[in-house]
Amino acid sequence: MSNALQTEPKKRRVFAIISHPDAGKTTLTENMLFSAGAIHQAGQVAARGQARRTQSDWMKIEQERGISVSSSVMTFEHADLIFNLLDTPGHEDFSEDTYRTLTAADCAVMVLDVAKGIEPQTLKLFEVCRLRDIPIVTFINKLDREGQDPFELLSEIQDKLALDVVPMQWPAASGRRFKGIADLRTGEFLKFVKKEDGGEHSLTRMDGNSLADHFDDEALLEEFREEQELAKEYGEFNIQSFREGHMTPVYFGSALRRFGVLQLIDALAEFAPAPQPEKAKKAGQMVEIEPTDKGVAGFVFKVQANMDLNHRDRVAFLRMCSGEFKRGMKLKTAENKTISVHNPILFFAQDRELAENAYAGDVIGIPNHGALRVGDSLSESGKIKFAGIPNFAPEILRRARLADPLKAKHLRKALESLAEEGVTQLFKPDIGADVIVGAVGSLQIDVMRERIKTEYGLDVTFEAPMYQTARWVVSDDEETLKAFIDKNSSNMGTDLDGAPVFLAKSAWDVGYAQDKNPKIRFLTTKERA
Ligand code: G4P
Repeated sequence: MSNALQTEPKKRRVFAIISHPDAGKTTLTENMLFSAGAIHQAGQVAARGQARRTQSDWMKIEQERGISVSSSVMTFEHADLIFNLLDTPGHEDFSEDTYRTLTAADCAVMVLDVAKGIEPQTLKLFEVCRLRDIPIVTFINKLDREGQDPFELLSEIQDKLALDVVPMQWPAASGRRFKGIADLRTGEFLKFVKKEDGGEHSLTRMDGNSLADHFDDEALLEEFREEQELAKEYGEFNIQSFREGHMTPVYFGSALRRFGVLQLIDALAEFAPAPQPEKAKKAGQMVEIEPTDKGVAGFVFKVQANMDLNHRDRVAFLRMCSGEFKRGMKLKTAENKTISVHNPILFFAQDRELAENAYAGDVIGIPNHGALRVGDSLSESGKIKFAGIPNFAPEILRRARLADPLKAKHLRKALESLAEEGVTQLFKPDIGADVIVGAVGSLQIDVMRERIKTEYGLDVTFEAPMYQTARWVVSDDEETLKAFIDKNSSNMGTDLDGAPVFLAKSAWDVGYAQDKNPKIRFLTTKERA
């Protein structure tokens, strides 16, 4: 076995940041890249995003609404490790896309605003992490602003998320009185000195005279010392409990002032797990694919279409799970489609590079013309199918109507192509010529309209169809399923994969159909077959 295959996966850390909008995810991302030396001027990530959007002009909505629609991956190195940061879209409408991105992460950083604590979107994303017991490191941000009492914040995390919390650091006040952060394990103190372009980092021992000078307020220093003693009562950090998703270590800082950011990266280096074995089906059997297994295998968690308008290209983001990938390799999907990977892309902070080789924990972008879909597994043997990338039943259904009916074929192609990205879904009713678009949130419909206009030159409106809800239908008994489909043909359709879908006028109709047909299951999620 190649030596690199043994050692390289252990150096990878794949993580995502989860937060409520405005808690500071973008700022933290940027300053993590900066602190790790991957970019040389904070502001470059945003600037790059801006330039890219202006260039391709396909995410006007993203600009107008100030939200991040597309997710991507950024790689940086620190402490001899390679970190792959998966950027999850923050807006609440994108929970499905976000979920899929989180299936590719081994760890998450949960960013909380010190003044706001757990917010609705934090909770939603946390629940997604909990489905897979992803270990979570907590970062309490914006310490340079007035905030809540840290003890209250810790209780809130503990109560609302049912997680054990262990503060690894303790902040000395917040806002204007913010003095810095103590490392509760080493006893070191990170002094905060506010500066125009960020905070000043300066380490000193807790018991040194310099600390008293730095505090210039004896009562505050005394209070801080007492709080630290109380904080220690949360107990010892237990890495196993963290890795199992039961315990979160808590860090404090200010992403904007770049204060405490390096300590957070150090925490990830120390605690975040390297790639773990992944469950997959191989020749009908459930197996665990080890990162050091020889054969290359991975799964597509994201497809981004039309990154370059002139080429109608797509990039499929493949999370590597095993093997030593080499450029030019031929990989197969579980459906036996062969893909020659000549130009795999690695995503560094500012640049993209051709990937000559890649290991478990790496994310490579594979340019293609629509052959790869979200949830596809790729492997050398073509016999591996990874589990666990679901579709969610859409909460919004719309019928697409064209200003120019002669362009119906074009529209169909556009809708199919955008649905293949996996963000929106497409259903074809068994009766009639309409196609129904399904989305988890209304913003996705707006994004779709905008993209159909800019990328395909079609003016389209979306109307409420006669159906309001969709459920995948399955049964252990094929005959029963077939009889149900035949009997309900006016309410049946198929999804992009040809799987049968029950299209109902209301949730009540679904309940009624369920009562009448106990052998049929009406599913709100579908795992890609
Ligand atoms: P998001 O991606 O989670 O939505 O948040 P983002 O990083 O965009 O940050 C939201 C706002 O919070 C930004 O201010 C940002 O500057 C600010 N912020 C982030 N971290 C800190 C921090 O540690 N301290 C303080 N004081 N502010 C912080 P904005 O005014 O909305 O945007 P901008 O004009 O500053 O870019």
